[in-house]
Amino acid sequence: MGKPMPEILHRALFKGVSLLPARGQAVVLRRYFDWWHRSPDPWSLGSDDYEQHKYATTLRLLPARAYRSILDVGCSEGVFTHLLAAEHPEARVTGVDVSERALNRARSRPGPPSLRFTRADLLSFEGSRAHDLVVCAETLYYLGRHDRLRLASARLIDLVHPGGLLLLVHPWPEARELYAHISGMRQVLHHVEHDPRRPFAVTAFEAGPRMSDVNVSRPG
Ligand SMILES: C[S@@+](CC[C@H](N)C(=O)[O-])C[C@H]1O[C@@H](n2cnc3c(N)ncnc32)[C@H](O)[C@@H]1O
Repeated sequence: MGKPMPEILHRALFKGVSLLPARGQAVVLRRYFDWWHRSPDPWSLGSDDYEQHKYATTLRLLPARAYRSILDVGCSEGVFTHLLAAEHPEARVTGVDVSERALNRARSRPGPPSLRFTRADLLSFEGSRAHDLVVCAETLYYLGRHDRLRLASARLIDLVHPGGLLLLVHPWPEARELYAHISGMRQVLHHVEHDPRRPFAVTAFEAGPRMSDVNVSRPG
């Protein structure tokens, strides 16, 4: 991932944005990321060696299952979303991002009809809860302070069908802090890639049954 500004300043900037009420934060993020995507592929996600290595590592580590419904949250121009769709042709794959400009580029690339892109802010996204794979990569650090991260984590958890997976890919060791609010799920994968360019972690959590889905049978 290219570093347009030192990471410490980058995180401070987005922590500052997260002091706004959630709706205001969403408006600023939408405008910022539409501006950021003013030229195609601003992070060189489609060509950078490090990014290709991260995508290949993630796909290799992803537990082999017959996924039917995949959601990629914070998908930008859909480079990884398209790879997921190619790898899992039997699945309905949806990319979600706050930037319409990024999504228009994602839609303009040839892909299967089962692949679609929807504009939404993670904090208010009212998606279906029926996904057996929810992916969120290189996005959680934009949420800022801990209460927003807690809300975002709750939204992500809620989108995963019981038995499904939440797959997270973020810089290491920052990922430890970013995942502090993932709860009620079982960690089934944790791989740290000690890449000298920038270490990253690929982590998957499996959703248990929802309390509302559990049949409580009364004794005799
Ligand atoms: C660095 S890109 C990651 C792209 C992709 N996940 C990958 O790893 O190749 C981060 C993306 O997150 C999106 N984003 C940031 N905050 C968001 C939010 N609150 N809701 C939805 N998308 C968001 C941005 O628009 C941007 O496209």
